[in-house]
Amino acid sequence: MKSTKSKNFHNAPRRRRRPPRLDPARVNAFRRRLVSWYGRHGRDLPWRHTHDPYEILVSEIMLQQTQVGRVLEYYPRFLARYPTAAYLASASASAVRDAWEGLGYYRRAQNLHRTARLITREHGGRFPAEPADLAKLPGIGRYTAAAVASFAYGAHAAILDTNAARVLQRVFGPGRRRGRESRLWAVAEHVVPRGRSYDFNQAIMDLGATICTARRPACPRCPVRGACDAFRRGWFQDARSPRSRTSRKTR
Ligand code: ADE
Repeated sequence: MKSTKSKNFHNAPRRRRRPPRLDPARVNAFRRRLVSWYGRHGRDLPWRHTHDPYEILVSEIMLQQTQVGRVLEYYPRFLARYPTAAYLASASASAVRDAWEGLGYYRRAQNLHRTARLITREHGGRFPAEPADLAKLPGIGRYTAAAVASFAYGAHAAILDTNAARVLQRVFGPGRRRGRESRLWAVAEHVVPRGRSYDFNQAIMDLGATICTARRPACPRCPVRGACDAFRRGWFQDARSPRSRTSRKTR
C-alpha cells in the first residue's frame, strides 16, 4: 500500500527548546477560530466516538500510513474481530496478519500485537496515560503517544503529523528548513490550549486534511486565515500553493 504521508513526524526526538516567540493575540485567535470551526465542520469519524485507549491506538496506528477513507473500511472490521487488547494479545501472529491484510506496512500490525501483549501481561490490561510511558511501547512514537494521551485521556499533549505541521508552518511562519521539525513541535506545544487539547488536535488535523491542503489550500473558506502568516504574505491569494506557482514559473 502506498504511503500518503510524505514526512514522518512520528519518532521525532524530543529536544529542549525555548518557547517560540509568537504574538499571544494571534495564538488566541488561531485557537478560538480553529476549535469553533471544528465544532461546526469537524469530520464524523468512528474513532472520535470513543475514549478507549486501545480503540484510539488502533485508529492511530492504521492512520499512520493509510488514508482515512481506507482506514474507515478496516477499522470496524478489526475491532469487531479484536475488540480489546486482551483479544488481540491472545490471537496468533498469522490471524493478526490476516486481519491486517490489505492495509500494508504489516510491521504496524506486529507492533500493535506486541503492544497488546505487553499491556495485557505486564500492565494489568491498562494503557499508561503519560505520553512518555506510551512511547516506550512498540510502534508508538512521539506523535502516536501524544495522540493516545490526548484523545483517550484528555491529557495536555501536542501532536504533529503531516497535516498539523503544514498548518502550523503556514500560519506561524516558515523559518529555515534546518531544524524545522523540532521548531514545529515547539510551536505545536506552545499553541495547544490547556483543557482543549482533544478538540484542538483533532481540529488541526481536519483543517490540514480538508482546507489547508498541500496543493490547493482553500484559503477563502479557511477559518484561521486572519491569523495566517502565509495568507497575509499573499502566497495563497490565487488559491495555489507557493510550490505550484514556482513550478509554473520555472517551467
Ligand atoms: N490522522 C491521524 N489521526 C487522525 C485522527 N484522529 N483523525 C483524522 N485523521 C487522523
